Amino acid sequence: MKKKLLATFMTFAMTASLLAGCGGGGSVSTDTSSDTAAEETATDDAAAEETTDDAAAEETADAAADATAASGDLADKKVGVCIYQFADNFMTLFRTELENYLVAQGFSADNISIVDGANDQATQTNQIQNFITDGVDVLIVNPVNSSSAASITDMVVDAGIPLVYINREPDADEEARWEENGWNVTYVGCDARQSGTYQGEIVADLGLDTVDLNGNGKIDYIMIEGDPENVDAQYRTEYSVKALEDAGLEVNELDDQVGNWDQATAQQLVSNALSENGNDIEVVFCNNDAMALGALQAIQAANRTVGKDIFLLGVDALTEALEDIIDGTMTGTVFNDHFAQSHSAADAAINFVNGESNDYYIGCDYQKVTANNAQEILDLVK
Ligand code: BGC
Repeated sequence: MKKKLLATFMTFAMTASLLAGCGGGGSVSTDTSSDTAAEETATDDAAAEETTDDAAAEETADAAADATAASGDLADKKVGVCIYQFADNFMTLFRTELENYLVAQGFSADNISIVDGANDQATQTNQIQNFITDGVDVLIVNPVNSSSAASITDMVVDAGIPLVYINREPDADEEARWEENGWNVTYVGCDARQSGTYQGEIVADLGLDTVDLNGNGKIDYIMIEGDPENVDAQYRTEYSVKALEDAGLEVNELDDQVGNWDQATAQQLVSNALSENGNDIEVVFCNNDAMALGALQAIQAANRTVGKDIFLLGVDALTEALEDIIDGTMTGTVFNDHFAQSHSAADAAINFVNGESNDYYIGCDYQKVTANNAQEILDLVK
């Protein structure tokens, strides 16, 4: 438990700028029944309990939790997983790995239910209500709209069920509420500012002479954004350009369009942008690889050549994008580690099921991918 408190402190130090505060304290329950643990934390007593807990009680909690895991109790526990949309390439990698890992940790495949929100919040809210009625032991939710997180949290916490958000981060006020109330709620994801920064740095590292094909002294780019409600899209858009500016480069935005994370939409948008701006476009930034693959189709249809007369960046490290980087038809991407994220989400869910607490924010790192390391990342993801 001491280790956990230290980890909590380190997380606090690292994410202090993101959160009003952070603590892994939450509730420490000596009862390994998740329902009881969750009910306890849903009351105001949780904070009082926390202040009175002592090392002995913590050790009892740890020992009880270990015993639960060791006796294979997870096989009887039910997990509900809500994915915002099955048609999303990245979330497909994420949910497949999540399911495999949950099974590897001892859950029965029959007790893991993963549902498709079909990109509709009303549909997803119904699915959450059904999981509550079904009495799942823990919920893992990839919200359709991050702005619906407060009402989702209220619903799930009222039902005494622990909750792990993934991929679409609720806002800082919402996250602060979990800690203030000592609720069994957490978020698992990477900081999208890092992925945007890495995209910009890949371009900056090529140097102005290589990228400034029209010789106007600026990096002329277009931006293809994901869902604008999603903080990943907002941060990637902002930080990719900021990284260029921070490297001392002048930038010129020729177009900024919303592709909603979708390949076909991006193909159309980039095709339009290429007809309107012709050879002036030097860099195409896409908030994810699915859209970069669409952009590549448009680029090739316009008889432009990546690496020669245009540069193309994505995020995620989808297999196809990595193969394109190896072939030289994509400049770079950023590995969005779905292994680390799905494993952390499952581990957090297991902690909750075992009556243990989690940090309120569980982060992970992105990784820059260029021709230098694309094969290495491909070997990892394949
Ligand atoms: C991924 C996108 C995905 C989105 C879904 C992002 O982190 O990079 O590919 O569409 O999450 O929310």
